[in-house]
Amino acid sequence: MAKVLIFGAGYLGNQFHERLLGSVLSSVDIVDRDAVLTEIERVKPDAVLNTAGKTGRPNVDWCEDHPHETFRSNTIGALVLAEVCAHAGIHLTHLASGCIFYGPSPDPVGWREDDFANPSATYSRSKYATDLALSLFPNVAIARLRMPIDSKPGQRNLITKLSHYPKVIDVENSVTVVDDLVDAIRQIIEKRATGIFHVVNEGTMKHRDLMALYTEIVDPAHTCEWIENDELVGQGLATRGRSNCILQNTRLKEIGIEMRPIDVALRDCMVQYADYLNNEKNNLET
Ligand SMILES: NC(=O)c1ccc[n+]([C@@H]2O[C@H](COP(=O)([O-])OP(=O)(O)OC[C@H]3O[C@@H](n4cnc5c(N)ncnc54)[C@H](OP(=O)(O)O)[C@@H]3O)[C@@H](O)[C@H]2O)c1
Repeated sequence: MAKVLIFGAGYLGNQFHERLLGSVLSSVDIVDRDAVLTEIERVKPDAVLNTAGKTGRPNVDWCEDHPHETFRSNTIGALVLAEVCAHAGIHLTHLASGCIFYGPSPDPVGWREDDFANPSATYSRSKYATDLALSLFPNVAIARLRMPIDSKPGQRNLITKLSHYPKVIDVENSVTVVDDLVDAIRQIIEKRATGIFHVVNEGTMKHRDLMALYTEIVDPAHTCEWIENDELVGQGLATRGRSNCILQNTRLKEIGIEMRPIDVALRDCMVQYADYLNNEKNNLET
């Protein structure tokens, strides 16, 4: 396995660090060119993975009030990394987002990698601006993921998020299971693939499907109220409407990378999620 230097010590940075053997995790400011260069000279990686960026706390609405910080990290920082990696002859994989697409796609099957996006929120604009620039770099893979679903509970995990909301919107999306994401990124790095990839599982998932599986496998007593998508902003639950979209992952398949069908991957993930919670409970009791 290539030695991967991961920038960004947040949720996904740590997931990759745990799962990519021999990887090194760095929290240096990616806008600081000298600091980035020093890290690359120290670690001497075969490849770089950018997971750094402003995603907003408690959620992405934070970016609406902090556009400078958002563009500084998500756009300028990513460009600094791409330029330094290009100069050093190192392959860069950049974590991008599918939430640059809003609503129905021109092709009824789903948004394609080369479709022009229609981002509305500040976060989405900062991510798409980066994609437009980085797609011109010959040493960069842009990996767009959607709504990570993980077997470990956590605030960024869609299972944990939806199961904690009293009101949930009833929408259909492409989504990404984290185990499959890590595996796909590992292969992208090994193949030194470049260009844009939609790293989403096969098929689509409704929030209702996820919650039905949660009730079946994790907590039979769980309930929530279902609301329409436009009620999210109308009821003051979010500042800006969220992106809901379906993505094609054609380019991934073209280079021989298969993502598991979402119904298979989701069930597997939910079983592991339940096991994790049960183990935690047992550990607390002993
Ligand atoms: N999680 C998702 O739902 C999702 C979906 C699609 C795409 N993505 C993309 O995947 C990447 C990682 O997401 P995540 O969920 O792991 O987010 P996260 O938990 O917020 O992690 C991002 C990390 O990057 C750090 N950071 C921000 N600006 C930086 C800078 N200039 N230099 C170095 N580090 C910086 C953040 O630190 P501070 O907190 O101190 O700012 C944080 O530790 C992001 O680019 C995101 O756009 C995520």
